[in-house]
Amino acid sequence: MKPRILVTRATFDEVLARLRERYDVEDNQQDDTPWRGDELRRRLADKDGVLTTGSDRIDAETLAAAPRLKAVCNVAVGYNNIDLAACSERGILATNTPEVLDDTTADTTWALLMAAARRVTEAERWLRAGNWKEGWRHDRLLGQDVHHATLGIVGMGRIGQAIARRAGGFSMRILYHNRKRVAKSVERSLRARYVSFERLLKQSDFVSLNLPYTPESHHLIGARELALMKHTAVIVNAARGGIIDDAALVQALKERRIAAAGLDVFEGEPKFNPGFLELDNVAMIPHIGSATRATRMKMNLLAVKNLASALSGKRPPSLLNPQAWPKRRR
Ligand code: DGY
Repeated sequence: MKPRILVTRATFDEVLARLRERYDVEDNQQDDTPWRGDELRRRLADKDGVLTTGSDRIDAETLAAAPRLKAVCNVAVGYNNIDLAACSERGILATNTPEVLDDTTADTTWALLMAAARRVTEAERWLRAGNWKEGWRHDRLLGQDVHHATLGIVGMGRIGQAIARRAGGFSMRILYHNRKRVAKSVERSLRARYVSFERLLKQSDFVSLNLPYTPESHHLIGARELALMKHTAVIVNAARGGIIDDAALVQALKERRIAAAGLDVFEGEPKFNPGFLELDNVAMIPHIGSATRATRMKMNLLAVKNLASALSGKRPPSLLNPQAWPKRRR
């Protein structure tokens, strides 16, 4: 009998075809509505492995309903949707898809940074609404210069570093803050200077958040932090909703306490604070940081590789909970 696996969201046909060669696959190709609660638990009850996305909540209760489950393979680098401790307790291997999306996510971060700085989405809305009647004006839609400005990177992991590399082309001064200082050689090659979180907020013209969502990073940016930033500053979040207190951000943008925001992620997405819709000084996209075909394919294939390893008794390349390995289910 082939191992049984669940693929929670619609994915590329090639990926499913590859999975079907080795597994008995239950997919969500037709409907693609996220499965929640009882429905997810029912579908997992007889499965050996599952390919998840950030929109699937894999908590202790879900895992308790899956007595055969050996692997939870997230098609995402972030894994705040998975209860890692509960996986480890049950000997279930959890994996993610690091590295393959770093450059694509850095590109998206830059798209948001530029769009928010130079009011690109706002200008397009203005144009489409038929407002361009008077020809050129000296003061139309004035934005913030990106070149030679100071970029503050919060979270200098692989994605933060990819963002910093791009900043070199704009002759930016780069500050960063991270739980741990990166190697001196990396600082030198990126021309990035380590500073305290507070100093970064005070001195940066652009603040980019590139860290995982954890209890410690919940509302890392709230009213107090926004108040420390320059009134000309732009904040960009292509990491995770919840790192910014969105209600506080809406208020700060409304009162022009900072100039603008570029957001790919929101608290409680796909719902989000309706206050954003009333603001011109925010460029918003629907969590598409890694959304190019090539990158999404790489993420899927890495997740498939992780799953194949886990189900054939090999250590998956992107294992998140090594403590589960000695007591893994066989
Ligand atoms: C990730 O990989 O964590 C992204 O948010 C999903 O594209």
